[in-house]
Amino acid sequence: MLGLNYSFMMAEAIGSKGITGRKLESFRVKALEAIEEIKRKRHPGLAFMELPWQDVSPVREAAQKLRDLDNFLLLGIGGSALGPKCILEALSPFHNLREGKGPKVFVYENVDPATLKYILSSLDLKKTGINVISKSGGTSETAASFMILYEMLEKAVGREAANRFVLTTDPEKGDLRKLAATGMSALSIPPGVGGRYSVLSPVGLLMAEVIGADSEELLAGAKEAHEKCLDCNFWENPAIVAATLYYVMQRDEGRAIDVLIPYADRLKSFSEWFCQLWSESLGKQGRGFTPYPSVGTTDQHSQVQLWMEGPEDKVITFLRVEDYEADFTIPDVFGQYEGMSFLRGQSLAGLIKAEEEATELALAKAGRPNMAITIPKVDAYYLGMLFYFFEVVTVLAGHFLGVNPFDQPSVEEGKRLTFGLMGKKGFEDKKREVVQARDKKSQFKI
Ligand code: PA5
Repeated sequence: MLGLNYSFMMAEAIGSKGITGRKLESFRVKALEAIEEIKRKRHPGLAFMELPWQDVSPVREAAQKLRDLDNFLLLGIGGSALGPKCILEALSPFHNLREGKGPKVFVYENVDPATLKYILSSLDLKKTGINVISKSGGTSETAASFMILYEMLEKAVGREAANRFVLTTDPEKGDLRKLAATGMSALSIPPGVGGRYSVLSPVGLLMAEVIGADSEELLAGAKEAHEKCLDCNFWENPAIVAATLYYVMQRDEGRAIDVLIPYADRLKSFSEWFCQLWSESLGKQGRGFTPYPSVGTTDQHSQVQLWMEGPEDKVITFLRVEDYEADFTIPDVFGQYEGMSFLRGQSLAGLIKAEEEATELALAKAGRPNMAITIPKVDAYYLGMLFYFFEVVTVLAGHFLGVNPFDQPSVEEGKRLTFGLMGKKGFEDKKREVVQARDKKSQFKI
């Protein structure tokens, strides 16, 4: 199981800027109520909690066909891209540069035309399978790239084009589901599972299987997290303690910025996945936390100065890895130089761990609260566990904040205004709004 060390959040270790054990204890009842509420599964959004028990055979079947091709292109955005990207980068780093790892993988999420140009110049469309992911089936970015790619593929391979697509979408609603009814292959995201909670659905599992990772392992790790995160023993449940700490630090200490710093390059995109989950789920009604993605040790040389001496508005969460699955001994060369001699004979894993431990302590000494989550290694099992853990922490934090962690009303408004601008029927009033706003925007210009 993942470990949570929150010593440096506590007053006992960092003084008056920490939280007292008594205060944490006073949250126990409220926190356990939140767990009970989750267990009742009254909100449809909690459907993500069922995902660890899904049947993965449809995903495996789809993946098998895609693995016969040279390239795999994913089209999707937000929760429909960040999870699969994270799986790719964590479980198969430098995937496209390594032989024998299955198809080369490309993720086209933003509608930047230049990116599409470079992707297209890096792959042979004739030998490409495409996974279009959209829960709603109606996101403009994904729809646009799907339409472009469909036409291109049709020109390249004719009628075979339709067989090259796998649509991952709602089981009943939306345009992608309608297309699936015409015979295109499709996978279902269970009803209630929203984009940012969908990584353990076919959204992420197909990517896992295509790159040769075991989707069952991701789910097995999530199952273990489920047991632990719904435990009613407050002091034994890392999800409830973490959610309480984030909440109390924000409410009582004004620390509303949450930095997640994994000490592993392979988890860099995990902190990006977390950022979407944390911001879109909790940032509403004037409440929420601001997430901040980071990676160690790199950001020690970029951000730590700010965290140590800047505004007292942050909580830093370290993500530690025990076993890097590889190590290198620093050789006995350049011993005559002081800056290098002390490193001789030591290991790279030892260095990255020392840097992490030292940064925790340096922050604590400066009275800057921080905690550490530890996983034994970066593999499918522990990645599944991490996804599930942070999803539960987010739901619990939503409960404390009094917000619905499953909707995203303001993202929807942006989508509606875009529909208006792009001339979608029924959104004419939204177009007028944008045009009027342009007048206002012309007042102050340089
Ligand atoms: O979490 C969410 O619901 C959103 O971020 C969506 O994932 C994003 O807007 C893409 O939506 P869809 O999957 O419907 O295309």
